[in-house]
Amino acid sequence: MESFYIVGRKRLEGEVEIDCAKNSLLPIIAGCIMVKGEVCLENVPKYSDVLAMKKIVEHLGGKVRFESGRFTNDNLIIDCRDVVYSDVPNELACSVRSSIFTLGPILSRKGIAKVAFPGGCDIGLRPVDIHISALKQLGCKVVDKNGYIYADGGKRREGDVMLSFSSVGATENIMMFAVLGSGQVRIFNPAREPEIVDLQNFLNSCGAKISGAGSNLIVIEGVKRLHGCSYHAISDRIEAGTFLIAGAMLGKKMVVKNVKPKHNQALLTKLSKTACKMDVQDDRITISGSPHLQSFGEIETAVYPGFPTDLQAQMCTLASVCEGYSLIIENLFESRFKHIGELLKMNCDIRCKNGVCIVKGKEKIYGADVNATDLRGGASLVLAGLVAEGYTTVNNIGLIDRGYYKIEDKLTALGGDIKRIKCEKKVDNCS
Ligand code: UD1
Repeated sequence: MESFYIVGRKRLEGEVEIDCAKNSLLPIIAGCIMVKGEVCLENVPKYSDVLAMKKIVEHLGGKVRFESGRFTNDNLIIDCRDVVYSDVPNELACSVRSSIFTLGPILSRKGIAKVAFPGGCDIGLRPVDIHISALKQLGCKVVDKNGYIYADGGKRREGDVMLSFSSVGATENIMMFAVLGSGQVRIFNPAREPEIVDLQNFLNSCGAKISGAGSNLIVIEGVKRLHGCSYHAISDRIEAGTFLIAGAMLGKKMVVKNVKPKHNQALLTKLSKTACKMDVQDDRITISGSPHLQSFGEIETAVYPGFPTDLQAQMCTLASVCEGYSLIIENLFESRFKHIGELLKMNCDIRCKNGVCIVKGKEKIYGADVNATDLRGGASLVLAGLVAEGYTTVNNIGLIDRGYYKIEDKLTALGGDIKRIKCEKKVDNCS
């Protein structure tokens, strides 16, 4: 068990470089299952979700290793020429939501698949009915039994798929399933997140023929095989957003590098209302906080380009130190407010009912012993610890490691006072 020990109210100054996007890398690693050649994914942070996907690909018969290259992080080399198995057992799938992304690629490559229901952060029910319905629309036989999804790809692999909701994961799964084949598949009402475009670009670099990602119609012309390539995933808009929110509260000309401002437009629009100062350039944003942050008003999470649900928790922290009231509405995941119980321990003033939160900003919040409840909720507690008076212990930080790599080192380099500490047994004894 590890925790973060944070001494709050230090200003953040200097530069921070944003890593490659977790939510791009996970489906891309799944996509490698279809590639009969070596793939080099450049500059891959060792997010624990990436390590979990590595184990799954190895289980299937792929060879996966990290190798140092010319970037800050190692490259991830994936060779799936010898993939023999078509099952993902429960003990591997339960640790990571993105295990479900292997369903489409395994089915595409092997014709059949047996994949356990996915695990991942506890933020709601997270069903996979849209994935299954989409596969069925393409003629697959899919049965779920005893916690496993059994699928037979059939021979068709052509036709139209209408998604009842623009699910990110379902769009990615169907794109990958349709890649190897001889016909055309069209996905109507797909998700339009930047990570979908990134997956398209990766697969096309391997020889796939996909167009339309980022729009409301994706067209996939099946190809016979995929070859290896080198690929550099886009930067992580959620990590960038998390640092920008830290900068709005505590920044002193803090520079967030390797960002794509367009990918964070919904956040930037809200931050501009708080009285923080931002200088937005092509690939970097300089941000300085204000001692009198104003409420950003209201956010309502939505599919891209709407406000990302993955930044909702962090906005609860920001709202807690902005003057006035803020309204936060979560539309995507029904249990994504678990961090609020922890923020209340830090003297935040938040009321929450039926997916709607009202946050009353306070002049000060105070450090406490709190527990990460999920990945992004955990990030909101780190932010709260940084801005709080006194010291904070954030426990259960394995959840934060799923999608932030060495966040404590990045914050320390900016002037934050945060340490990773070991907790033997009881979290109360950490300090
Ligand atoms: C992805 C992201 C996650 C982000 C989410 C929404 C990755 C690895 N994860 O998750 O960080 O929070 O997008 O932007 O990329 N739904 C169904 N049935 C399905 C699939 C989804 O009802 O078969 C519902 C979900 O419960 C949720 C909504 O659709 O309410 C969005 O889910 P989806 O877009 O699929 O999110 P994920 O792909 O799981």
